[in-house]
Amino acid sequence: MNTAPLQGIRVVDFTSVQSGPSCTQLLAWLGADVIKIERPGVGDATRKELQFDPNLPSYYFLQLNSDKKSIALDAATPDGKEILTKLIEGADIFVENLHPGAMDKLGFSWEVVHKINPRCIYGTIKGFPVSSQYVDLKAYEPIAQVTAAAASTTGWYEGDNDVPTQSGAALGDSNTGMHLAIGLLAALLQREHTGEGTYVYQSMHNACLNLCRIKTRDQLTLDKIGYLTQFPQYPNGKFGDFVPRSGNIEGGGVLGWTYKCKNWATDPNDYVYIIFQRGEKDFELACKALGFEDWLTNPDFNTADARDRHKQEIYARVQAWCIDKDKYEITKTLAAAGMPVGPVLSTKEILDDQSLYDGNTLVKINQGGEIGEFVTVGVPFTFSNYQPTYGPCPSLGGNTDEILTSLGFTAEQIESFKANGTTAPMPKKPTTDTTSTSTK
Ligand SMILES: CC(C)(COP(=O)(O)OP(=O)(O)OC[C@H]1O[C@@H](n2cnc3c(N)ncnc32)[C@H](O)[C@@H]1OP(=O)(O)O)[C@@H](O)C(=O)NCCC(=O)NCCS
Repeated sequence: MNTAPLQGIRVVDFTSVQSGPSCTQLLAWLGADVIKIERPGVGDATRKELQFDPNLPSYYFLQLNSDKKSIALDAATPDGKEILTKLIEGADIFVENLHPGAMDKLGFSWEVVHKINPRCIYGTIKGFPVSSQYVDLKAYEPIAQVTAAAASTTGWYEGDNDVPTQSGAALGDSNTGMHLAIGLLAALLQREHTGEGTYVYQSMHNACLNLCRIKTRDQLTLDKIGYLTQFPQYPNGKFGDFVPRSGNIEGGGVLGWTYKCKNWATDPNDYVYIIFQRGEKDFELACKALGFEDWLTNPDFNTADARDRHKQEIYARVQAWCIDKDKYEITKTLAAAGMPVGPVLSTKEILDDQSLYDGNTLVKINQGGEIGEFVTVGVPFTFSNYQPTYGPCPSLGGNTDEILTSLGFTAEQIESFKANGTTAPMPKKPTTDTTSTSTK
């Protein structure tokens, strides 16, 4: 039994860059038929962004568009509108992430699509919620992070490096795609009851803010008592009236920090993260593993609240313990004592870790041709009765003829769509050089 959960679901994918394509990529891997609409001769901007070879699509594009079909389509021409209408007639889901107002201008707003096919679910990604003063802004990853309190709470909290800092994780982009996927899947279930498609509006701001929920928790606490026990400023430093950048604190009630290991001077990722849990038994096991048994009877350390007040001494002593050790060894030793611990890993260490090529975590896709195999991150969860397969990405417009034929267009019509610029770039008119005197 290997039943794809979204088998038979047809998705018209009018998305580009990262947020939308990450959503439709997941839907494709869960078994949906995804048709990606790309402007003739232009395509998704990421095809030509950050390329490793000027003649080949970038890894940016490849990692987000596998297992989709591509139709080159100018949706602004009359024929383009007719083709898109037919695609929508047969679709379960339509997804778009154009800049605010662009889809309305093209003539395919939610209201129009709902009229064309009342069962079709309409997913849209924009930068901001409709209620926001920023609703009309175009948005990329950092715009989402800076406006959703992700950047203001990330980074160092003192000194020259005390600047709003972005997370390396794509909180605004792929995270938004994953949030929209949840909405679309819920909408599919809802349609079972209502028989009708719904409009799912997902802003990057909401997706990012949803992951900053605990920072709003901290703001509420700060407003009430004026300090936050998990921060290094507690108990002796000053708090303002907003949540500070959190450095490497754990963020919850447990005491975590990042420690240098023996090669830190030459390897910028030779660090380990170690957490002291709040329970007495956990603390006892931790102290025994670290050889800090004296803390078990010392009132400055033998309760969780006392440890919050003396975290700087804890950081210093644990740091001295780690400094001549290997991060993997530390992980082994402290994990055996039940401590939550993990080595800081670089992207290289992750891609080199063969244990992650388990068919889901990291996957190799054979794109063929000059690209050959490339690595991407697979579906981030597993099913007991479904194993996704991972196929190549389409070339720009690579499935145009096949899709048009399946929609019932004749060979003559398909040729005329190419000639009039609907499914292929308009041929450039020859320029007559009136200044030339050459008679060659
Ligand atoms: C990402 C973003 C900033 C890019 O903005 P942009 O450079 O203006 O590019 P867009 O793709 O939105 O649109 C460009 C134009 O191409 C047109 N276009 C795109 N695909 C088309 C097609 N297949 N046929 C006809 N026209 C098409 C759009 O209608 C738009 O036309 P307009 O400017 O005349 O209205 C913007 O799309 C945005 O804010 N999107 C919402 C948030 C988001 O998803 N951000 C991306 C995060 S990875």
